[in-house]
Amino acid sequence: FSLKNHNSFGIDVRANRFISVENTDDLRTILRKTYASEVFILGGGSNMLLTGDIKKTVIHIGIKGKEIISETEDQVLIRAAGGENWHEFVLWSLEQNYGGLENLSLIPGNVGTAPIQNIGAYGVELKDSFVSCHAMNIQTLEEREFSLEDCEFEYRNSVFKNQLKGQYIITSVNFRLTKKDHSLHTDYGSIKAELESSGIDSPTIRDISNAVISIRQSKLPDPARLGNSGSFFKNPVIPVKQFEKLQEKFPGVPSYHVSDEAIKVPAGWLIDKAGFKGYREGDAGVHSNQALVLVNYGEATGQEILALSEKIQREIKKKFGVQLEPEVNII
Ligand code: EPU
Repeated sequence: FSLKNHNSFGIDVRANRFISVENTDDLRTILRKTYASEVFILGGGSNMLLTGDIKKTVIHIGIKGKEIISETEDQVLIRAAGGENWHEFVLWSLEQNYGGLENLSLIPGNVGTAPIQNIGAYGVELKDSFVSCHAMNIQTLEEREFSLEDCEFEYRNSVFKNQLKGQYIITSVNFRLTKKDHSLHTDYGSIKAELESSGIDSPTIRDISNAVISIRQSKLPDPARLGNSGSFFKNPVIPVKQFEKLQEKFPGVPSYHVSDEAIKVPAGWLIDKAGFKGYREGDAGVHSNQALVLVNYGEATGQEILALSEKIQREIKKKFGVQLEPEVNII
């Protein structure tokens, strides 16, 4: 079974078996029949680089559904199933005038995989509206509810990428969204500029979503047309002392405050400055509008993309003394 249409990088690798499940009962039945070590879980396939065939049973989480669990005058608690497409869920929430997810518009992937890396963009992270999630243990088949604290969310990180890696399948996520007095996040530079250029001075959540969509479309390639996994690397967080040295050599280096000791530097800027923007080796390349995104021009293999990413890591280490870490999961 080819996985080419099941990963946003469009890498053509094979799986021994592919099964899509539409509810938790079917999921449990399949898991009961398959050894945990033989299982590979696939959501939207938007945050992974497949570098070889998957000699396992791929279980695609196709569980759909959204429901209102409870609501007050101001807020609503919504449950969305793991197989819901993230952006469609965001658009649906905006249609109901529920606020909280607008800055996270147009992020590829599914609801059930969003918590794994605590997706974030334009000053907002999933954890800001996350209440809890339900997940099934691959080995024991027990279902468990994880609270916000249980998930240990950090920048592009959670317990599901660490201690519990590969152990749970997230089947649904509960969000708390606002029904009125939405708290808007427009501080992120380009959102303000985008709203201003559209002549909007008191934006609605829909306006913010539209602004985010147009910013993303101008920088990030559409995976349906050009294979990619969004940001390939995390933005490195470095000690203030190291940042000051970097700034002496490269006075234009942008930065984000993290704490009194640490500063986050945009990896895209480093990669761009190192001359890689638009660089191409065969069908593996660095996107010409956003150097943080690696792309597959058609027939690149996962190994070729990986080799390019390693070359970038070496060059960045040499030029800036900074170690880049992949943001996508390398499989
Ligand atoms: N920059 C360059 N050249 C480039 C790319 C970026 O000089 O080729 C500079 C920009 O000018 C800007 C800075 O780097 O000063 C940051 O760029 P940008 O605002 O585009 O954001 P980013 O740091 O590259 C992060 C997230 C994105 C998210 C945006 C917006 C990570 C790893 N990436 O990107 O997330 O959409 O901020 O919040 O944190 C993703 O995770 O897949 C993703 C796309």
